[in-house]
Amino acid sequence: MKKVMPLLFIISSIYLYFHMSQVIVNLQDCPYCYGKDFCNKLENEINYKQLSIIERLYNSINAKNVFYAYIGDQKVVLKKLAHNYELNDLNNFICKKNNLSYNCKLNIIKDTHDYYKEIVELITTEDIDVVKNFKVCSKYGADLFLSTLADFNQNLKENERLISIWTTLQINVEPLILHILNKKKIKWPVPKYYGACGKLIIESYNGLMLTELADLDWSQRTYLALQILESALIFTEGDENFRYYLTDVSPDNIAVDSALKITFIDLENVIMVPKLPNKSLTVHRSDHWDEDSDFSFSEKQLCENSVSDHNIYAVCKLILSANAPYPMMAGGLLHHPPTDQSSKHNSILANIELCANPNQNVDRFLISRKIISDLEALHKSIQLD
Ligand SMILES: Nc1ncnc2c1ncn2[C@@H]1O[C@H](COP(=O)(O)OP(=O)(O)O)[C@@H](O)[C@H]1O
Ligand SMILES: [Mg+2]
Repeated sequence: MKKVMPLLFIISSIYLYFHMSQVIVNLQDCPYCYGKDFCNKLENEINYKQLSIIERLYNSINAKNVFYAYIGDQKVVLKKLAHNYELNDLNNFICKKNNLSYNCKLNIIKDTHDYYKEIVELITTEDIDVVKNFKVCSKYGADLFLSTLADFNQNLKENERLISIWTTLQINVEPLILHILNKKKIKWPVPKYYGACGKLIIESYNGLMLTELADLDWSQRTYLALQILESALIFTEGDENFRYYLTDVSPDNIAVDSALKITFIDLENVIMVPKLPNKSLTVHRSDHWDEDSDFSFSEKQLCENSVSDHNIYAVCKLILSANAPYPMMAGGLLHHPPTDQSSKHNSILANIELCANPNQNVDRFLISRKIISDLEALHKSIQLD
């Protein structure tokens, strides 16, 4: 074993060196890329010296097209946002759209399409084969979304800027959402977006996945539960223009850093519902109507109502509940509570089950606030001990 590890290290470092140069080469696809604002910094400041062997190996295996690196002293993840075959498919789709042959060169295309219109069509279409991961509900939502992105990739000419937004939307909306949410005065529980270079984005590294942390102390896990529930409310209520409903809530999409701060790291699947002026308040209550899956939601109902308890239901059912399904740890995030449970512990656990149970006619906004205030009190009392 002693001899194998250094050998693996050398092989993976060599592989990584060549592999990373390839990642950046996708710049030739621009303007059909995510942007170019981070290219200089990436070229001059990227380094892998501080990565662990495991991270170097992960980079070499590169199953998810996610790479770990450092920009100066800041640990980051580099994401291509899709598998290589999906990126190739998009390139060929662009060739075809411009009446060019398979594998055409993208950077010489004289593209005359109206990309504002194309984007609106893309994110409002009813055709689920076109875009299934991201929706804004209506033309009003699409216009509002694009006006919120007026400062995205500002270094590009307007048509190239719109092409970069269109390309990003074809692949994965994450950088656009991060760009919007990073501008908020109060910090949202999402990664910091540094920018893009070709078909690569750079965002903060936010720690290990929740799935890897089943062994934390119960009190530490209650602190995570508190933040996760608070985040569900922030995504629902924290923006003046939109409500963000996360449609892929999963413990392997929640990261936890060394200070136990949580971050929602995979923002590919989101329904952004615009807040309509003068619309009377209609509250949607999530329930379970698809027997074949652990969790179900209706895009139509999320779009039609002014507010939904979708995010609260999702985190209660998929993360917090004792019956949370795989890949959540057995017994849910608050598994194995202390044996000397106080009435506060019992009330938290009981309220989580009420929130997660689709058949209970409870107000999840009220119940989540009650759980949050009980978890806060618990957290404070633990800190005082
Ligand atoms: N900001 C981040 N911080 C730490 N790890 C991350 C981050 N983004 C992605 N990862 C790691 O990469 C994996 C895949 O990234 P993700 O964005 O979830 O893409 P996928 O669509 O392939 O699930 C995650 O499960 C996580 O292990
Ligand atoms: Mg993921």
